[in-house]
Amino acid sequence: MEIAQAIQKRRTIHIFSKKSVSNEVVEKSIGAANQAPCHRRTFPWRFTKIGIKKRELLYQLQLTLKFGDKPTDESSLKKIRDKMFNPSHLLIATQICTDNQVQKLEDYAACACAIQNLSLSLVADYVGCKWSTGKITKDPNTYKILEISPSEEEIIGFIWIGYGAEPPLIKRPPISTIYRERD
Ligand SMILES: Cc1cc2nc3c(=O)[nH]c(=O)nc-3n(C[C@H](O)[C@H](O)[C@H](O)COP(=O)(O)O)c2cc1C
Repeated sequence: MEIAQAIQKRRTIHIFSKKSVSNEVVEKSIGAANQAPCHRRTFPWRFTKIGIKKRELLYQLQLTLKFGDKPTDESSLKKIRDKMFNPSHLLIATQICTDNQVQKLEDYAACACAIQNLSLSLVADYVGCKWSTGKITKDPNTYKILEISPSEEEIIGFIWIGYGAEPPLIKRPPISTIYRERD
């Protein structure tokens, strides 16, 4: 697939089917992520593939975060279960911590480039994904479940990978409003 076509086709998938994606395709996308630019060769991105056991623990945590002790109806539970278990793969995107605030900003930019590379690589293989940054991605219990030390790495997103329907078209701002020239 041409790069321009992959860029056009990339969309955030919100509803995944249960169809599996091959590990090979996912590993290829990690290779693409690793080709992203970064200032001073910090290579700040890390990706952790999460298995079903830990997804079950994340699901329980998500229920606590969302409902606390309140009673929950079946359809709400199903919605959260589907979100947690339907995507074929769940990758945790983390950024290596630094006390240097300038580097932290640049490293986040580099990680975003890496995630975009990963997304485009998946699109080229007709696979979709979603970068999510909800409450659960920041909760201290998530770090414990995933065995990620918050003093070493910061979770910058959950990357859900799988097949799903393309979402409705989003109207983008006209180019004339985002591009200008100066003499
Ligand atoms: C840093 C970042 C965080 C995001 N977090 C969420 C999220 O928590 N939940 C969600 O539904 N989408 C999330 N998204 C996806 C955006 O909502 C999505 O990219 C936007 O709606 C545009 O849609 P598109 O990706 O199909 O172009 C995130 C995207 C980025 C770049």
